[in-house]
Amino acid sequence: MTETAIERVLFTEEQIQARIREVAGEISAKFAGRELKLIGVLKGSIFFLTALARHISVPVKIDLLAISSFGKSTPGVVRIAKDLDDTIEGEEVLLVEDIVDTGLTTRYLLQTLSARSPRSLGLCTLLDRTIRRLIQVPIDFRCFEIPDRFVVGFGLDYKQLYRNLGYIAVLKRE
Ligand code: IMP
Ligand code: MG
Repeated sequence: MTETAIERVLFTEEQIQARIREVAGEISAKFAGRELKLIGVLKGSIFFLTALARHISVPVKIDLLAISSFGKSTPGVVRIAKDLDDTIEGEEVLLVEDIVDTGLTTRYLLQTLSARSPRSLGLCTLLDRTIRRLIQVPIDFRCFEIPDRFVVGFGLDYKQLYRNLGYIAVLKRE
């Protein structure tokens, strides 16, 4: 592992696990007596989704989609590269994101999912970088707000690396 690329740790593995337990508790309380479908976005959110799901006490279903973007020149222009396996019609759905940054990706996903007539549609994100927001999106559950620096770990990548770090860290500026 190229530890040298890491400038500082923002959240330790222990801090992340503790916060995920708290948020999972909030989600369990909100959906008490109901079934919940968690929708993860490949690849970044799968680490968060599985950690979160293990601490949710209501019955949980999981489905995944993948998106691809068209590059930095067209931020927010994304398409679904791998769709969900099943319908979400009539279900309580929670979109699980690794990070809400500009909000463009999240808005696209929320619009796409809400067109499929779920009973409810919420948003849960591991990280929230409000300072870079271009489009307001309603965040129902959030673990951490982060400063305006690029971060990696716990699913978040830089050139597909560092997703497997147990902690979240700021990368050195190049
Ligand atoms: P958006 O700007 O809210 O549309 O975020 C788009 C995507 O950019 C996120 O889902 C992440 O995959 C990626 N991203 C944004 N900020 C970071 C970061 O600090 N580290 C790693 N990936 C990021
Ligand atoms: Mg990425």
